[in-house]
Order: sequence, then C-alpha cells, then structure tokens
Amino acid sequence: MDTRTPLIAGNWKMFKTPREAARDAAALAKLVQGVEGVDVMIAPTFVCLAPVAQALEGSSIALGGQNLHWEKEGAFTGEISAPMLKAVGCSHVIIGHSERRQYFGETDQTVNQKIRAALDVGLKAVLCVGETEEERDQEKTLNVLDKQLKGGLKDISFSSGDDTLVVAYEPVWAIGTGKTATDEQAQEAHAYIRQVLAVLLGKELAKSTRILYGGSVKPANIAQLMSKPDIDGGLVGGASLDPETFSQIVRFQ
Ligand code: PGA
Repeated sequence: MDTRTPLIAGNWKMFKTPREAARDAAALAKLVQGVEGVDVMIAPTFVCLAPVAQALEGSSIALGGQNLHWEKEGAFTGEISAPMLKAVGCSHVIIGHSERRQYFGETDQTVNQKIRAALDVGLKAVLCVGETEEERDQEKTLNVLDKQLKGGLKDISFSSGDDTLVVAYEPVWAIGTGKTATDEQAQEAHAYIRQVLAVLLGKELAKSTRILYGGSVKPANIAQLMSKPDIDGGLVGGASLDPETFSQIVRFQ
C-alpha cells in the first residue's frame, strides 16, 4: 500500500465532563459528515468513552483511549486495560504520550508492553515519540527518536499491509505552547522515523504506516504540514476541544 489515508486525531486530554464530551462528539459528527478521504479519531477521558461512543453511533469517527495498562485485568487500582477499551467501543489507543512519559514515569519498556497489549485485542496503537527542547538544542533529536522507536517497538512484529501501528511525532517543545515545528523540521523528523521503521518493520510496512505530526496543530497550519510527503495527519490537543475548530482541521484539503 503506497497511499496513506490521512488521519486527524483529537486528544482531549483531561478536559470535558461526560455530558460535554457527548455533546461535542455529536456536534463534531455533524460537522464532519460527508468528509471523504480522511480518517478521524477522538480520544476523550476514560469516563467519557461510553457516552461518546453512543454519541458517535452511525458516524465514521473512531474512538480512542488516551492510555491503557498492559495487563488484561488485576489488582491495578486506577488502571484500564485493552479489553476494557475495546469493549467500550475503542478502535485506537494513544500510547507513550510525552505527558505520560514526563509526569507518570512511562518508559520505552512500558510503552512496548502497552503496544503489545493493544495489538493483542486488535486496537490500533498510536505510538507517540518526540524530543524535548533541550534535546533539540543539543542536536539529539534523531537519537531520541531512534531510541524511542527501537524501545517501543522492540520484538513486535506486524503483518504486512497492516495499519495497526500509527506513529505520532510530537516535539515536546511544540505541545500546548503555540510553537509549531516548521514543516521542514517536521518533515525531516518524519522522514527519519520512516527510515527507522523500515529497518525495524521492513520497507513495505514503513511505507504504509501513518506518521502524524502533533504540537500546536491548528486550522491555519495543517494544510502546510500536510503538504509534506511524510506527514500523514495530525494529533491535535488544544485545537481539538472545540468541534468547529477541529472540523476545520479535518477539512484541511
Ligand atoms: P497541542 O497538543 O495540540 O495542544 O499542542 C498536542 C498533543 O499533545 O497531542
């Protein structure tokens, strides 16, 4: 598969009550109705998944979790498992977001376990990678990407033509800061990620895997980012919270 369908994903982080989430999901479903050639996914908080799943019934918007635990069940207070996400209607799950790595001690090893758990139940894994500002300043960006990809995907095999893996390149310094990576900076990182994927997963899979850009994506910069050959979509935080704004990003073309 050579052509990659763009994916625009909204990460709602720790925002919205169940009522607000259901209302906004329903509004979004209306706003993007009939849009073709682009996949859309939203990831609300765990408590909003069930009402949002209901609000999305009959729409093509996919539902994603923001995190998961790698065990199926057990004495892990406060955690949610892959089968639970699946049962509530998720098709995707975000794994290794920089906020989880920064504030909740997530490592490449736990990311690896979580990707396995997701794939085990047929959830698509959205693996997030990206460097901090300090790492970029020290010219360590590519090393960081290399390490996160190799650690996160260690010993995992995918079948060819598979679209169960999505990678999101999210430079930490661009998240929620209003500073977007330039499309050249993003393209350079994406091309490098695809090169590493080719080594880890084979050329075919590297070609078909979608690599999203994340970090202050908004209606004003999405088209420019999407014009780059290795940018296959966006993982959108702040600008995904308002259905109208997010729908403009979905309608970038
Ligand atoms: P932002 O967040 O769009 O608010 O920068 C992106 C993300 O963290 O996924």
